[in-house]
Amino acid sequence: MNFPPFNPWKGCLLTPWPFFFLFFFFCVFSSFATRVVQAQTQKGFISVDCGFAGGSEYRDDETGVTYIGDSQFIDTGENHIIPVNSSSRPYRTLRSFPNGTRNCFTLSPVKSGDKYLIRAGFLYGNYDGRGFPPIFDLHIGVNFWTNVKMESDSPGASEIITVAPADLIRVCLVNTGKGTPFISTLELRPLLDFMYPLANASQSLANHLRWNYGMANKLRYPDDPYDRVWDGVAENFFTLNTSIEVVATEGDAFQVPSPVLRSAISESRTNFHLDSWQDIGTLGDKIYIVMHFAELQKLNPANESRRLNIYVVDGTVLLFTDYRPPYLRVDHKEIVDTRRSASGLYNISIYATSSSTLSYIINALESFVVRQMNESQTDVRDVSAIDDIRRVLRLVRNWEADPCSPREYIWEGVNCTYYEDSRSMRITSLNLSSSGLDGQIPTSIGNLTALTTLDLSNNNLTGPVPDILGELLSLRFINLSGNEAIGVIPQNLCEKVSKGTLSLSMSGKLKQCKNSDTNNKKVVIPVTITTSIVVTILLVVSFWIIRRKRKSHSSRGVLNKKNYTRSAETDDNGRRREIVQYTYAEIRQITKNFQHQIGKGGFGIVYLGHLRDGTMVAVKVLSSSSSQGSKEFEAEVLLLARVHHKNLVCLLGYCDDAQHLSLVYEYMDNRTLRDHLSGEIHNASLLNWSQRVNIALQAAQGLDYLHNGCRPPIIHRDIKSSNILLNCGLVAKIADFGLSRAFNNDSATHITTGLVGTPGYLDPRYYQDYRLNEKSDVYSFGIVLLEIITGQPPYQKSIEKTHIVKWVHSKVDRGDIMSIIDPRLQGDFNINMTWKIVEIAMSCTSTTLEERITMSNVVTQLKECVEVNESHNVLGGVNSSMQSMNDTLYSISSTPLALLAR
Ligand SMILES: *[C@@H]1O[C@H](CO)[C@@H](O)[C@H](O)[C@H]1NC(C)=O
Ligand SMILES: *[C@@H]1O[C@H](CO)[C@@H](O)[C@H](O)[C@H]1NC(C)=O
Ligand SMILES: *[C@@H]1O[C@H](CO)[C@@H](O)[C@H](O)[C@H]1NC(C)=O
Ligand SMILES: *[C@@H]1O[C@H](CO)[C@@H](O)[C@H](O)[C@H]1NC(C)=O
Ligand SMILES: *[C@@H]1O[C@H](CO)[C@@H](O)[C@H](O)[C@H]1NC(C)=O
Ligand SMILES: *[C@@H]1O[C@H](CO)[C@@H](O)[C@H](O)[C@H]1NC(C)=O
Ligand SMILES: *[C@@H]1O[C@H](CO)[C@@H](O)[C@H](O)[C@H]1NC(C)=O
Ligand SMILES: *[C@@H]1O[C@H](CO)[C@@H](O)[C@H](O)[C@H]1NC(C)=O
Repeated sequence: MNFPPFNPWKGCLLTPWPFFFLFFFFCVFSSFATRVVQAQTQKGFISVDCGFAGGSEYRDDETGVTYIGDSQFIDTGENHIIPVNSSSRPYRTLRSFPNGTRNCFTLSPVKSGDKYLIRAGFLYGNYDGRGFPPIFDLHIGVNFWTNVKMESDSPGASEIITVAPADLIRVCLVNTGKGTPFISTLELRPLLDFMYPLANASQSLANHLRWNYGMANKLRYPDDPYDRVWDGVAENFFTLNTSIEVVATEGDAFQVPSPVLRSAISESRTNFHLDSWQDIGTLGDKIYIVMHFAELQKLNPANESRRLNIYVVDGTVLLFTDYRPPYLRVDHKEIVDTRRSASGLYNISIYATSSSTLSYIINALESFVVRQMNESQTDVRDVSAIDDIRRVLRLVRNWEADPCSPREYIWEGVNCTYYEDSRSMRITSLNLSSSGLDGQIPTSIGNLTALTTLDLSNNNLTGPVPDILGELLSLRFINLSGNEAIGVIPQNLCEKVSKGTLSLSMSGKLKQCKNSDTNNKKVVIPVTITTSIVVTILLVVSFWIIRRKRKSHSSRGVLNKKNYTRSAETDDNGRRREIVQYTYAEIRQITKNFQHQIGKGGFGIVYLGHLRDGTMVAVKVLSSSSSQGSKEFEAEVLLLARVHHKNLVCLLGYCDDAQHLSLVYEYMDNRTLRDHLSGEIHNASLLNWSQRVNIALQAAQGLDYLHNGCRPPIIHRDIKSSNILLNCGLVAKIADFGLSRAFNNDSATHITTGLVGTPGYLDPRYYQDYRLNEKSDVYSFGIVLLEIITGQPPYQKSIEKTHIVKWVHSKVDRGDIMSIIDPRLQGDFNINMTWKIVEIAMSCTSTTLEERITMSNVVTQLKECVEVNESHNVLGGVNSSMQSMNDTLYSISSTPLALLAR
């Protein structure tokens, strides 16, 4: 290898990993302490003295930087003090990591997306008496940063410029089998966004060298407010300096501090060029070199010039030609290249051209290896869930940093898959078998929504299996065997097992499905948990055969005995409800031979009934002319059985004896909303404004549940005021979603034939494509809202059969809202709220589907109305309506204008 006559990088060549923090320089910096405090602050700095167990922070006299101990940044590892006493204070202690492959510091607070400089310092000092320093890897988050090799007794450091991927930055020490990793200091400094533009979210810059030419000393904070460490290079060079400040412009990407720029190296005219050899990166690495220039000499334009050619790769590639550094202004030349050979050094040469009267100059140089930040992190929700699982189960595992990344350091017991849509790793398998766990199964497992395999076998887990596991769509295997005290299995899991979509292994006695019914009717669910899918399938088949058989038997005993087939369902509050299957004989008994008719709908007559315990029920006997076959009917019942909400009429049972299809519903004793609005009920007082708004909200909630709370969503298809039933407390419940069809595969076309809906309520778009979807229900609901406001049916009797939407539009367009409001309210309403509700109704009934809002939107907006109503209710009367006109909550000027614009 040929060395140039003056080789400033001699040390670099001889050191396998070039750390140049020569602390003996510090004596020269005796003036530091006095210079520190002034202008600069350490805002955003995190300066950690690793292994320092003292409680309080301290100020390092040599740098003026305030250090704190590391206990708040890491839990693992052990503290050591190095025996030699020659180094600066932060290097006198260290934290080492004899256990675990990967140990991480979590640096925070930082701001996601901001740029930071992070520096890890090491001084071995033979603290462990082994006599040779370890070799290990550093990772920044889930990505490789550098391989750390150091000298035995001089401090070294690695530095990286990186963008925070989250509100914390992890620095991990990775044991590569060459000694116990340790660290002495860890420092984080915020940079400005525009600095080092090559560093971004997908790549970081691992610093290799940072030279300050022309000055013998090391320079860092506070001379450099970003606390970069600039190593001095002056020996054996001709140095130039100036006392004039050379200040980087405001947007300059490198913000090289003036003291660094004010000095430079050069040569006499006889020595024309500078060669720089760098042992940077490894073969194939992207390397990045920035040279900082500022002419420090006032040149006489008549007879003086400094013109430079800059070459790379042993003088073969001329990168910059005839370059003239500007006088007392900073300028940069950047090189982005690839390390081309495994051996040898990367070379840069600066030549003065033949026409130049002066030799080369250079003020500072930085070099970096570009590190791709391309390992995907684990989805934050998964990380939060698994952290919680670990906490709840008091797991003792070396689970450090990211669960899934990098692949070779994936957590023990965890398996992951990359998800393109979230651009992150998701935890797909969790194996905690034989881990000595006790207590309950943590519900946070339910937050691992990509989980397919869960193995908790051979522990001492107790209690119920959380319901939420049944909601994990990808979950295919659960192994709970070897946990003797695991309790009931939730119904939704039982169902999956019986459908064969889930394999559940359990040992011990046969488990029952979850049954927490309040009236303690024990329901035997013939779902058997087995250790293999085969057995499961066999059982499902035999269960099915038995069920078929039972159905063919006509006599099924007396009411309320426990020998019917039932299926249990849990509602959204975890309560369970049952669907009872009745025989036709029982239906006759309940309705006292169909004595008391209480209603008639499109699908049959509704009779009053009494169960044996006296509960009143409504029995809907489906007319034989209704198009449903027995099979469809059963499907419908299964569907209805899944639906339970406080604003939906509850299905209690059914009868599907051939020819006699009936549904048994809870009885609603206060008739329908239509009855109330039409004033048809004798003696009933008129619904007042707040009752109306509450009914609207409740009905909206029921419908929203059908759309958004059910999987698959259920479209009602016949929302109207006569399908909104009221109980004695005027709580509204939606009835008759018997027409509903689930959006499942067999009705994938959504094309509806036959009788649908009710004229006046039916979405006009239906006539375009004969399709009904959630938005059609929204339309019908909008009509109901208008009925509630106006008290009028959809086609008005008095006003020559105009449709209510048209009529309301014509009034609202003229800004006349008073005349649409039910006159029977006698002014007792809130005008702002009325505008708001009219607006909701208008968005519901818009003919363009895009403008039509969703039911959840309707619910949110109506809720606001109810809240406003409640806060104004106290005042009451017309006065309050006027008062609330000044309300800022709903801008009266914007609402009607928005309506007019339609
Ligand atoms: C490392 O593991 C050993 C044995 O497992 C344990 O005794 C020791 O306390 C652990 N050390 C640290 C620092 O965690
Ligand atoms: C190291 O130096 C400090 C003060 O600089 C002193 O207090 C301490 O006793 C010294 N320790 C050893 C082991 O010499
Ligand atoms: C980071 O910079 C590189 C090259 O400068 C570019 O290819 C990459 O797309 C950038 N990444 C982001 C996230 O901006
Ligand atoms: C500039 O350098 C010369 C010798 O190289 C030295 O004597 C002088 O003090 C330096 N001036 C400043 C301002 O550093
Ligand atoms: C350039 O010319 C000036 C006078 O014009 C003289 O003082 C100076 O020494 C010259 N410099 C060189 C390098 O010849
Ligand atoms: C689980 O998910 C819910 C809803 O997304 C969230 O509120 C909760 O904080 C999560 N729990 C954990 C431990 O991540
Ligand atoms: C993780 O997945 C890989 C590939 O799918 C498989 O080879 C490996 O056995 C799995 N590990 C665990 C612990 O399940
Ligand atoms: C369960 O706990 C009992 C005592 O509490 C213990 O003897 C047994 O070994 C534990 N079983 C497992 C699998 O950890």
